[in-house]
Amino acid sequence: MNPTVIDFINTSRDRYLEELTQYLAIPSVSALPEHADDMRRCAEWTSEQMRTIGLENVRVIGTSGHPVVYGDWLQAPGAPTVLFYGHYDVQPVDPVELWLSPPFEGTVRDNELFARGATDDKGQLFMHLKALEAYLRQDGRLPINVRAIFEGEEEIGSPNLDQFIKDHKDELACDVVVISDSPMFDKGVPSICYGLRGLSYFQIDLRGTTTDLHSGSFGGAVANPGFVLAQVLSAMKDRGGHVKIPGFYDDVRELSERERDEFKRLPFNEKQYRKGLGAPKLHGESGFSTLERVWARPTFEVNGLLAGFTGEGAKTVIPATAMAKVSMRLVPNQDPDKIAALFEDHLRKATPKNVELKVTRMHGGKPWMTELDNRFVQAAARAIEMGFGKTPVYTREGGSIPVVATFQSELNAPTVLFGIGLPDENAHAPNEKLDLGNFYGGIIASAYLYDEIAKTRE
Ligand code: BES
Ligand code: MN
Ligand code: MN
Repeated sequence: MNPTVIDFINTSRDRYLEELTQYLAIPSVSALPEHADDMRRCAEWTSEQMRTIGLENVRVIGTSGHPVVYGDWLQAPGAPTVLFYGHYDVQPVDPVELWLSPPFEGTVRDNELFARGATDDKGQLFMHLKALEAYLRQDGRLPINVRAIFEGEEEIGSPNLDQFIKDHKDELACDVVVISDSPMFDKGVPSICYGLRGLSYFQIDLRGTTTDLHSGSFGGAVANPGFVLAQVLSAMKDRGGHVKIPGFYDDVRELSERERDEFKRLPFNEKQYRKGLGAPKLHGESGFSTLERVWARPTFEVNGLLAGFTGEGAKTVIPATAMAKVSMRLVPNQDPDKIAALFEDHLRKATPKNVELKVTRMHGGKPWMTELDNRFVQAAARAIEMGFGKTPVYTREGGSIPVVATFQSELNAPTVLFGIGLPDENAHAPNEKLDLGNFYGGIIASAYLYDEIAKTRE
């Protein structure tokens, strides 16, 4: 690699920060219809940036939801083709009153950049654009062929992306997919993530009567949907954290002894972890360590609950309805469709006939895992070592990036997760932030990554 590439990166830090701050100022909240124009504006901004750094064939491509941004640079004959994926959409900012600075005004405190999207995922996506820019400016070329797709619907379950990939298979053909949309193990502990959990998400609606009722006049004569909901939910998981849906664990790939040993060797401080979360006690499936529970075991969670009177004071009422949002995180080799059917079946059996049940299936995604001896994973490990001065540790993660499984099945391409976020960067929460040391270091590591990928030969 031309050494001036790294010099260029090191002397461009202030500009990177200014540009990223501009990017973060666009409130690209995919979940909220009032931000539809901001979504388009953000896609345009992303495409302008891609053109400016020297990518070619840059296009904003409409879908029936938010647009996908595509660009490429394919002038390295014989070199591997890397497909970059990232998402320019962000999560809603509520509760906004808990932010210490406005969510769409990037603010630096203590070498951390605070804003919605800083770590998930605009900052990490932008890191690659800046590394590509450094090569194109200093060398006029890249060591690899590049295709990039950045979507605007990741945070709402990517409803249009699978179809988009199927429709554009030729344009997306590649040797490897690179995604930076995950945390490293800990500050100063760079990592490569080789597994993600999948997801199956539902809304449960119960109705007991046509209208709310006086709880004195009618209490005792009809079922209370709030109470029935609690009973139905408790049929899903026991106190030992074990999911009670019949067949739920049938396809779970058990942890190997080797994996369990390697998890144990990671610098994980359980007490600090608990304190950082403000939890009185950790809780999870018995027989498994915390890392095993989060990375390699499936769970059933309640994401939201709604029933009856929740205002100030007391109101004697039997609510007509109750609602819950629930989801299951899945691990290899569980299949979201199969799990969804098992769940629905168990839910119907667990719901008494004194309420009406409506189940709505929301988004889902397959779990994923890759082989560590993959040559691209090895290239990423060398790049991290060169960029961060440390050999990476190998981790799995509890979160989901469902498109990774689609890249494997539709494009037959392996994925390398090259995440430079941190676990405490408040993704999806108030005061989301990005460690600027990791951002700048990540740009350098990314530049090395492209070179290391270029050197791989089958
Ligand atoms: N960047 C995350 C995925 C992630 C989180 C990977 C933590 C590794 C560790 C992504 O933006 C995300 O939030 N995904 C959703 C997917 C869902 C909406 C289908 C998730 O995991 O809840
Ligand atoms: Mn993300
Ligand atoms: Mn996210």
